[in-house]
Amino acid sequence: MSENSININWYPGHMTKAKRAMQEDIKLVDLVIEIVDARAPLSSRNPDIDELGKNKARIILLNKSDMADGRVNDLWEEYFKKQGLFVLKINARNGSGLKQVNSLVMEACAAKIERDRKRGIKNRPIRAMVVGIPNVGKSTFINSFAGKACTKTGNKPGVTRGNQWIRLNKNVELLDTPGILWPKFEDRRIGLNLALIGSIKDDILNIDELAVELIKFLTDRYPEALRARYSFDAGDDMTENLESIARARNCLLKGNELDLSKAATLLIDDFRSGHLGRLSLEMPKNQED
Ligand code: G4P
Repeated sequence: MSENSININWYPGHMTKAKRAMQEDIKLVDLVIEIVDARAPLSSRNPDIDELGKNKARIILLNKSDMADGRVNDLWEEYFKKQGLFVLKINARNGSGLKQVNSLVMEACAAKIERDRKRGIKNRPIRAMVVGIPNVGKSTFINSFAGKACTKTGNKPGVTRGNQWIRLNKNVELLDTPGILWPKFEDRRIGLNLALIGSIKDDILNIDELAVELIKFLTDRYPEALRARYSFDAGDDMTENLESIARARNCLLKGNELDLSKAATLLIDDFRSGHLGRLSLEMPKNQED
């Protein structure tokens, strides 16, 4: 299979617009809440956020922590804390971990609150925005975090494109639309991870290749996941491995020939829907072995 079938120079054109919008919106806030996918927290970050968000308080939320390996989640939490970032594991879909976000916001903004206090400014709410690459759960987070109880505060001067602030409580206001960061990958592994977590579109990559890479990864890190779902032990021959999945899931073409492309798609779907169990695609660097 071609090494270059994932085009790492790919850059989605409409992301230029997203970048411009982000630069404008970020000027309006004190705090940037960055959402990443807990299964691949580095691949699902866009490193440009460090530049875009400099001088702002920063929080990282490891979302979809329910789909990632619990032990690895803890390692990532530690990793980001060591970098001086405020971090939390959450599940935006069922709301777990969200209760702690408020106090983390206050902690992350302690310096700003203190600055305001010294200047005699009281009760000025912290303004925050949510950012992240596609599919990490930004909208789900805003909906769950802001909930139904909150009120929109309406347009205010300086807020363009109809952006609105959601008043979360007396201390915090959240921009109601998330900032969309563009996926960035300079290496093939990151491209593959982004594809697996559904942050880049399937039509820019080869699903068969992605499936083969996933089998290799699972064989190495989580062999029991393949065994449990498809009742086979993967070997070195990737065609045979895909054939085993095709047999287990009854993927057949006319004439009872095995349909390997369908098996590849099913495998990827099983990963994305969590049917292969809780899996982390990335480990912090010093923990890889
Ligand atoms: P985005 O704004 O960053 O693009 O992401 P969005 O909120 O649309 O979420 C993308 C998908 O991820 C959604 O699933 C959403 O339900 C799911 N999701 C978000 N947070 C979590 C989480 O913490 N855990 C799990 N397991 N899933 C999460 P979908 O299948 O695209 O939509 P739907 O079936 O939920 O409607």
